[in-house]
Amino acid sequence: MKIDEITNVAEFEEIAKKKLPKMVYDYYASGAEDQWTLKENRNAFSRILFRPRILVDVSKIDITTNVLGFKIAMPIMIAPTAMQKMAHPEGENATARAASAAGTIMALTTLTTSSIEEVASTGPGIRFFSVHMFKDRNVAAQLVRRAERAGFKAIVLTVDAPILGHREADIKNRFTLPPHLTLKNFEDVHLGKIDETNDSGLASYVAGQMDRSLSWKDVKWLQTITSLPILLKGVITAEDTRIAIQSGASGIIVSNHGARQLDYVPATITALEEVVKAAQGKVPVFMDGGIRRGTDVFKALALGASAVFIGRPVVFALAAAGEAGVRKVLDMLRDEFELTMALNGCRSLREITRDHIVTEWDRPRIAPAPRL
Ligand SMILES: Cc1cc2nc3c(=O)[nH]c(=O)nc-3n(C[C@H](O)[C@H](O)[C@H](O)COP(=O)(O)O)c2cc1C
Repeated sequence: MKIDEITNVAEFEEIAKKKLPKMVYDYYASGAEDQWTLKENRNAFSRILFRPRILVDVSKIDITTNVLGFKIAMPIMIAPTAMQKMAHPEGENATARAASAAGTIMALTTLTTSSIEEVASTGPGIRFFSVHMFKDRNVAAQLVRRAERAGFKAIVLTVDAPILGHREADIKNRFTLPPHLTLKNFEDVHLGKIDETNDSGLASYVAGQMDRSLSWKDVKWLQTITSLPILLKGVITAEDTRIAIQSGASGIIVSNHGARQLDYVPATITALEEVVKAAQGKVPVFMDGGIRRGTDVFKALALGASAVFIGRPVVFALAAAGEAGVRKVLDMLRDEFELTMALNGCRSLREITRDHIVTEWDRPRIAPAPRL
């Protein structure tokens, strides 16, 4: 299929599935254990319906927004996803260029196949760095400083992965990073004593360095080593939202790691409103998980998200068509979102309200009122 024949985000996944080795496709696509949350991240969107307002003049629609003071072209950003060169030889560099061309933000993970500096050198763009905390806090400190020097604008701390989720496809496939690739951010980091004679030595060192002791203390510690704003990614309860704000987080990303960590947590779109209410407007709340349509973006904003992130659509588009593929995904989501706004009678993000949707946890508002 040619790229201009693609009409929606889901089609990229079909192409990626045909193109990628099974081990790589499964790594990108799968979730934890029974994958209940993986399916629910998508299905929950289909249970939220619109209450569109009619006869609003929608000849002009503004979908631009501000994230941590940075103006972006649309409320759709790129989530951190690991090892993108398995999808395409240009990997994270292609994603960075596509994000920049679309006028949006890319979050780069620690576990990349292009280094922080390489990604920065692709050109201008607003980028966040998603740091993984290792047992040796010096490694995290070095990475954060490199991201600061390379012009990254915020730190994303992933708080839902003190230990890797149980992804059975990866276990069955004996997933490893293909031998021609390395975890680039670690090449110049002083790692102490490891077997540096081969890449799998590096990969297993990194896996072994995941730190189960990660706690709220580390959120405070991170603030002592960087002046960049810190977003906590992986909050899904009101309780943790309140602690996150007290601990100095500048924003929250409601996320279940694309359903790759704890199975049977709710879909993020159903957890979002609880977090938004607990945040009381003190910090912006973002969300990711299952966003595949412009209508999904609208629903997230109606429930109080400031903007959303997308994960898998980027790696699948990268596999299918490199930078042009990622650009196309961003363009399609932007166009669908703008259309959804128009058909709901909204001309700016501020005009998207909770009354534009009805959820299963609302009183049934679409049913006729009972006769008394
Ligand atoms: C292949 C893959 C790798 C990921 N790697 C990371 C990572 O290194 N750090 C992180 O915080 N989240 C990671 N995530 C989670 C994403 O940032 C994001 O939360 C999730 O993909 C959003 O759901 P979606 O894929 O349905 O859009 C990864 C997700 C996928 C699919």
